[in-house]
Amino acid sequence: MKTTVFGKLPDGREVHQYTLENRSGAVAQVIDYGATVTSLKVPDRNGRMDDVVLGYDSLQGYMEGTAYFGAIVGRYGNRIGKGRFSLDGKDYQLTINDGENHLHGGKIGFNKVLWEAKPGGADEASLLLQYTSRDGEEGYPGTVTLKVTYTLTDNNELRIDYDGTTDKATVLNPTQHSYFNLSGSFENTILDHLLMIDADGITPVDKGLIPTGQIADVADSPMDFRRPMAIGAHIDDRNEQLAFGKGYDHNWVLKGSAGKVAELYEADSGRMMTVFTDQPGLQFYSGNFLDGSAIGKNGVSYKHRSGLCLETQAFPDTPNKPQFPQVTLRPGQTYRQTTIYQFSTK
Ligand code: BGC
Repeated sequence: MKTTVFGKLPDGREVHQYTLENRSGAVAQVIDYGATVTSLKVPDRNGRMDDVVLGYDSLQGYMEGTAYFGAIVGRYGNRIGKGRFSLDGKDYQLTINDGENHLHGGKIGFNKVLWEAKPGGADEASLLLQYTSRDGEEGYPGTVTLKVTYTLTDNNELRIDYDGTTDKATVLNPTQHSYFNLSGSFENTILDHLLMIDADGITPVDKGLIPTGQIADVADSPMDFRRPMAIGAHIDDRNEQLAFGKGYDHNWVLKGSAGKVAELYEADSGRMMTVFTDQPGLQFYSGNFLDGSAIGKNGVSYKHRSGLCLETQAFPDTPNKPQFPQVTLRPGQTYRQTTIYQFSTK
């Protein structure tokens, strides 16, 4: 595996970039800062390789950026209302970093720390990254060790395996935060991409994007992606949920049988991305907060809705919503997640 120095942190530690290449010529690059996927090159229907994930050219971009491009987010991907929860009768206050709420692990989440990388092993196109988060970090109880393994399979799948442990009861709900644009050019928006999500419900949110606790049927609403639909078809409809999210920024309630949960297709390139996961929820975020101010790879400014995230995880705010599937992790238990983004053409 090719390893290069990507940059240096202010404290002098080096950040490395690892290049994973499979037998079909697809290439994924990952840095140990934030366990971040910095590029992912997959073929279009004519075999042309293009990068399909947004990101920066330099470490500085990732250090200063606020969009979580390509990173592993945690401990808790998504929001916890007012950053508060109680567990086993104890109250915890997490860092508030999104209005009055806690988002994506706080000010210095898993995306803003250096992970320990263990490349290679038996499979050349596989990289294990590990981070130990200390007891009390961003307000969370327990020392948590999270291992994330990225594998680029010969079938053009980016496979992500998670393994997490703790020494005290805590909550753990990490996710991968890549922004995809399958068109081959980040100058294009994702509004023409066709999306299918195999889910009958979403968890509606309030104006701070905290779930109300209900599950709403997607039928007869802009949230109905049970059949492939262009993302732009209804994104600007008059709809309270879309207004709160400034577009799509919601959790779809998956059916719970680990397998295919979503499909994303871009007709000009013919690229198709199929998402498989064992998680209960899928946050579809249509890049509504991108506003052209982030200058990405090759100097391209990432305009409104030029990338979208399909984040596999538990529902938002589960510690305060006992009716949702919980993510409490106790000593002796192991958190596991497997998610696959599979690329093909048609
Ligand atoms: C959230 C958005 C948030 C974005 C930050 C997404 O996962 O759902 O609300 O603005 O991350 O990049």
